[in-house]
Amino acid sequence: MADIHNQKIIILDFGSQTTQLIARRVREEKVYCEIHPFNVNIEKVKAASPMGIILSGGPASVYDHDAPAISSEIFELGVPVLGICYGMQLTCRMLGGTVERSDHREYGPARLAIRDNSVLFHGLSMAPDTHKVWMSHGDRIEELPEGFLITAESETCPVAAMRHSSRPIYGVQFHPEVVHTAIGSEIIANFLFRACGCEPSWTMHSFVETVTEEIRQKVGDGRVICALSGGVDSTVTALLINRAIGDRLTCIFVNNGLLRKNEAETVLSFLEQLKLNVQYVDAADRFLGLLDGISDPERKRKIIGEEFIHVFEEEANRIGEVDFLAQGTLYPDVIESVSFKGPSATIKSHHNVGGLPEIMKLELIEPLRELFKDEVRKVGEELGMPSDLIYRHPFPGPGLAIRTLGTITPERLDILREADAIVLEEMKASGWYARVWQSFAVLLPIQTVGVMGDERTYDHVVAFRCVDSLDAMTADWTRLPYELMARISNRIINEVRGVNRVCYDISSKPPATIEWE
Ligand code: XMP
Repeated sequence: MADIHNQKIIILDFGSQTTQLIARRVREEKVYCEIHPFNVNIEKVKAASPMGIILSGGPASVYDHDAPAISSEIFELGVPVLGICYGMQLTCRMLGGTVERSDHREYGPARLAIRDNSVLFHGLSMAPDTHKVWMSHGDRIEELPEGFLITAESETCPVAAMRHSSRPIYGVQFHPEVVHTAIGSEIIANFLFRACGCEPSWTMHSFVETVTEEIRQKVGDGRVICALSGGVDSTVTALLINRAIGDRLTCIFVNNGLLRKNEAETVLSFLEQLKLNVQYVDAADRFLGLLDGISDPERKRKIIGEEFIHVFEEEANRIGEVDFLAQGTLYPDVIESVSFKGPSATIKSHHNVGGLPEIMKLELIEPLRELFKDEVRKVGEELGMPSDLIYRHPFPGPGLAIRTLGTITPERLDILREADAIVLEEMKASGWYARVWQSFAVLLPIQTVGVMGDERTYDHVVAFRCVDSLDAMTADWTRLPYELMARISNRIINEVRGVNRVCYDISSKPPATIEWE
């Protein structure tokens, strides 16, 4: 799509785990930004005409023989540069200063004393040791490059921040992007508004307006199809396109027989409420037939993904001439980042319908490519989506197939659906649903002995899992109140026939994953 951002910040990523956080902080200030790998072609940076450039932190030492570096032209563009941690050390070294190599890391909170509050620290107190900031570095700056001055220091770090005396080049040794740095958002705002001269104009409202217009131009008189799952990303994608071209968008909602209890009805009624043009396909028998006897998780995913493509193609053919395929791809999926990505991207094949655009030979429309998940939710609000839909937990494409461990039968799916519905009901009733990333039940492939009344039982085991997470890359199990766990367990055992035992999953990711398969 054409470049719609006349004011943008470019973040060059040196592999810090907090690079995405820098982007979030910039966008929270209503300024658009993009993350690029540190070795992006300098011509690409110039062509983007950024208002400012931020150099992220990273795990390397500037003295490593293969230390990531950038073109020195970055400092000659006349564009303000802010180096954070490794980004500051690199700036220092490239401009002629010296960095002291260290074998131990300073990690954790530090007290900062500001020495100069002209730009980056504008409006912040210069009283000694007032500001708590977060440090995470090994090497540190020993000698400033010519023309630079110290703008802040801490007890253990004499050059905690620096700036050039006349050029717009700044550096901070600590991390303004993390919440532990209380003055972090002021520092980032000062860089954006005072150093770079940006305006806070990137809002979800302006995004919706511009993207709607872009879609109109791109699609012309064409037709678009979109696979809807009832999740936030695909629904917001469809709503945006619908706003632009009305019912020349057809949404296809496939029931693969692996949805949660009442899911198809709930989603359809939502979509109807939103006045989308939806084609509903009940393909449950087809999917369940193919999955008969299959227990390997990757085989399940593959079968479901392939069958989805068949069903989708058949439905698309019914519509006639179609030119575009819309997808709800988000920014974290497209960033060519060198940052830690988490193990599960390669451990499970999450791409449910990978290959669909190539097979169908359709041009792609991905209106959410530039957004983070929380921004997608804001767009959803902007477009009038009901909050139940906006704040739904993520649900995997292969659905209950990967939560019914072992082989899948209609009976086992029914047991899982009932148990899962109780988990969700109780999570919502207690107010915990909105506080966690995901909550769900899993049916285990074993039976255990129990006693009900006077009788011995030999029945199924259900596990339930609730996790806290920011992006599903890492997660921790939610510390639910015992009373809530007890209620969920009692209800499942009493109300779901065939279950006599309930477990709560207390594994974090890593080393476990969120889903059990
Ligand atoms: P894991 O289990 O890898 O899951 O920790 C991370 C996130 O991805 C979801 N997930 C999937 N989503 N297709 C999807 O669309 C899949 O095959 C799939 N497997 C896991 C999971 O629910 C969690 O949010």
